[in-house]
Amino acid sequence: MSTTLEGKRALVTGGTRGIGRAIVERLLAAGARVAFCGRSEADWAEEELRARGFTQAYATSCDVSIPEQVEELFRFADAKLGGLDILVNNAGIGIFKPTAELTIEDWRRTIDINLSGSFYCSRAALERMRLAGGGYILNLSSLAGKNPFAGGAAYNASKFGLNGFSEAMMLDHRQEEIRVTYIMPGSVDTNFSPRTGGKGADWKIAPEDVADMVLAVLRMPVRTLVSRVEIRPSKPGK
Ligand SMILES: NC(=O)c1ccc[n+]([C@@H]2O[C@H](COP(=O)([O-])OP(=O)(O)OC[C@H]3O[C@@H](n4cnc5c(N)ncnc54)[C@H](OP(=O)(O)O)[C@@H]3O)[C@@H](O)[C@H]2O)c1
Repeated sequence: MSTTLEGKRALVTGGTRGIGRAIVERLLAAGARVAFCGRSEADWAEEELRARGFTQAYATSCDVSIPEQVEELFRFADAKLGGLDILVNNAGIGIFKPTAELTIEDWRRTIDINLSGSFYCSRAALERMRLAGGGYILNLSSLAGKNPFAGGAAYNASKFGLNGFSEAMMLDHRQEEIRVTYIMPGSVDTNFSPRTGGKGADWKIAPEDVADMVLAVLRMPVRTLVSRVEIRPSKPGK
């Protein structure tokens, strides 16, 4: 039997726009109650969703690279949702430069947000999911987590690391009914970076397509764990 998402309690990092926003909307449409964050625009995003009738959306500001703010984010989710069934580690940045031009700050920010932020949030989620007897953690990685490219040193390192982290965490906690999946999309039509472009590239994956895959994975019966997913544009732009 597939798992229903009705009434499930979910937290999505980086849910204010792009892929995270599409995941928030799909979860809400499926009947889940959803807390989400971004470093900015959280109030605006919550208001906009509520105006469209999504009354179970709760947003707050949080920088996932700061452990104290992550603790605060989980206290917020506890207060609004009363527990946690699903964590989506989606918040991420991309800084694309040749290695010789990467500053120490560029490197730190990329690793701190994309990799360490996912660890801080997973750690807080695991504590709650263990008490609840199960849960689901989904990490937004990238095909950059297996395919290095010129200019990608910091981003590639963060996503290669996230893949290894995800697999080890899956092995650590699968017997506790905590499932872990990492999703590796290719180019998605968001404003993520100049490298991935802005709007208007119709050959790219739509954020909603990634969100649909997230929901399909979450709906798998408890006996089945989809540990890794690759998604790519059918016809990549030249
Ligand atoms: N777009 C692509 O082509 C693509 C492909 C493969 C994988 N991905 C991955 O998918 C995820 C989402 O990408 P996207 O394209 O949707 O990017 P996006 O449109 O730039 O959205 C990123 C979201 O993350 C939030 N965020 C960034 N840094 C944060 C931090 N330190 N703490 C909390 N929230 C933070 C942003 O809000 P604030 O800026 O206000 O904090 C925003 O809500 C990323 O992990 C990315 O690596 C993207």
